[in-house]
Amino acid sequence: MSKSNDSWVLITGASSGFGEEFAKQYAALGHPLVLVARRLERLQTLAASLQKQYGVEVLVEQVDLSNTAAILKLHDDLTNRGVQIDILINNAGHGLQGPFLESQLDDALAMIQLDIAGLTAMTHLFGRDMKKRQRGKILQVASMLAYQGVVNFAVYSAAKAYVLRLGEALHREFKADGVTVTTLCPGMTNTEFATTAQQKITLGLRALMMQPSPVVRAGIQALQAGRISVVPGVMNKLNVFFMWATPRWLHQNVFSRVMNS
Ligand SMILES: NC(=O)c1ccc[n+]([C@@H]2O[C@H](COP(=O)([O-])OP(=O)(O)OC[C@H]3O[C@@H](n4cnc5c(N)ncnc54)[C@H](OP(=O)(O)O)[C@@H]3O)[C@@H](O)[C@H]2O)c1
Repeated sequence: MSKSNDSWVLITGASSGFGEEFAKQYAALGHPLVLVARRLERLQTLAASLQKQYGVEVLVEQVDLSNTAAILKLHDDLTNRGVQIDILINNAGHGLQGPFLESQLDDALAMIQLDIAGLTAMTHLFGRDMKKRQRGKILQVASMLAYQGVVNFAVYSAAKAYVLRLGEALHREFKADGVTVTTLCPGMTNTEFATTAQQKITLGLRALMMQPSPVVRAGIQALQAGRISVVPGVMNKLNVFFMWATPRWLHQNVFSRVMNS
């Protein structure tokens, strides 16, 4: 990491949770940052504290990433200012727990717009710039739920499956252009995610809960090493092994219970 500390890092969803932690860890490594989310005050407070503590340059961009026009504008603005993004952390996302037919259609579509369309647009725009320069790194934040459809998380688990599959394909596709794509698949972690998703924290989930710091550290290390994907934490790794070693009906059943009861 030491050589790359003049490389700009753009972090989406930097106003809380993993995004805030990515900002802290990259600032500690000396990188200049672009922090993106909707809650401007939070971003400004974080930027001020990182500038003070680490002496790094931090730009703040208030953007609703579920709006494609706003993403295009963000890209144009940064290009016009001469800010070249070398590391893109596609982290912003949200979930919603509940029976599919009882959710509002608008809520389901908003999730798809942010978790799938917004992430795809960011990857396309900044990925092209990286290809031109023949260097760059992209981290896609998926989820353990990417590995299977989960009852009461139907749209979210499907959206994260998209993120994982996109990341795996682009990892191979971008390699020849000097651009690395890595997908991070966290399990239950102590952020604002559960509150936003109106998620029930079951006993099983409480036992599996990680803090954001080791998850983010694992993501940065995997990105730096050019890995295709990473599952942080021993328990999450065991879960993936369990999914690999058992029939789909069995692990889907177990996972749906862990998530819901
Ligand atoms: N925590 C978990 O258990 C867990 C597990 C697996 C995967 N994940 C994934 O991790 C990622 C980060 O979530 P988190 O756990 O850190 O949750 P979080 O604390 O709720 O953070 C979500 C971030 O996304 C931003 N965001 C939400 N909607 C946005 C929009 N329309 N435009 C721009 N930014 C938006 C939020 O900022 P504003 O509200 O200020 O816009 C916030 O900074 C998500 O992709 C999530 O799916 C989380």
